Amino acid sequence: MTAADQLSRSALLYLSRQEGLKDLATRMRPFRKMASRFIAGETLEEAVDAVKALTARGLMASFDHLNEAVKTPEETRDEVRQYQRLLARIDQVGVKANVSLKLTQCGVLFDKALALENARAVVEDAKRRDSFVRIDMEHSAVTQVTLDIVRELHAEFGEPHVGAVLQSYLRRTEADAKALCQERVRIRLCKGAYLEGPDVAFPDKADVDANFVRCMKVLLDSGVYHGIATHDERMIDATLDYAAKQNLPRGAYEFQMLYGIRRDLQERLAKEGHPVRVYVPYGRHWYPYFMRRLAERPANLWFVMRNLVRG
Ligand code: FDA
Repeated sequence: MTAADQLSRSALLYLSRQEGLKDLATRMRPFRKMASRFIAGETLEEAVDAVKALTARGLMASFDHLNEAVKTPEETRDEVRQYQRLLARIDQVGVKANVSLKLTQCGVLFDKALALENARAVVEDAKRRDSFVRIDMEHSAVTQVTLDIVRELHAEFGEPHVGAVLQSYLRRTEADAKALCQERVRIRLCKGAYLEGPDVAFPDKADVDANFVRCMKVLLDSGVYHGIATHDERMIDATLDYAAKQNLPRGAYEFQMLYGIRRDLQERLAKEGHPVRVYVPYGRHWYPYFMRRLAERPANLWFVMRNLVRG
């Protein structure tokens, strides 16, 4: 990444947290149109249609109802109800899908006990339906509390029903990966999408990638079913090479990618017989998620500029 790319990434991640811009952007038609590349729709039924289409292409899914800006206990309870409806709908439709949940949706920023209670209600429902809840990882201020809550839910509901996410840009992640694997917690390994300082995160992409490969090996050695979440072909090749060296069968782990990104790669891996899961975000509060996707790839910013100029 060049210095200019790094600057635009930081600026976009800063803007992703600006509430005023969120209201403006979500009302602008060109912005909404662009966001639809990464967001499966604003309603549950639109997301269900997107997942049916993925299923037809041999892909699994993880639904994510977007809403990181909940501010009251009542709003967090609405999120729980939203997830309960979602789990029921997955059962009805019969698609191969689980759910991803953010603890900010559950109220972790203002009441940790409430966040645990809300996440527990979702995981309890998932277990009843023999489904799985992935607790997404957010900015580093909530890393420890997120892992604490995952551990508590894992002890209560068991390995097949709840799992964690680790980000290879964090310096602490290799140690977290080793500890969670020993405890048999299922992990999604990704690079990390938030704005972090050099005290907690590696500033250089080369170090983030090297840590991804180190952590991937920890995961694959553990005998637990993990998710390798990346669109980076070098990371995917490193995973395939290591799995072959360790004689791991296809299906010992899954690849995961985001809705709207590298569909060709998603399909290629699925056709080669690897389980591939696509993360399918939906809902009205898509602005911060969309901005993080823009920040990941400087070329996306030019795509936005062109569309805004065209109107
Ligand atoms: P990298 O950023 O190096 O990109 C590799 C290539 O992928 C690029 O060259 C480009 O071709 C393509 N690409 C990547 N991003 C793109 C984009 N936005 N638009 C177009 N092309 C793009 N993060 C987090 O902090 N917490 C979480 O819980 C999750 N959850 C999660 C789930 C799943 C299923 C995935 C795939 C990713 C996440 N992430 C995440 C996001 C993750 O941390 C990371 O920001 C993105 O996956 C981009 O990193 P890559 O590994 O793809 O590599």
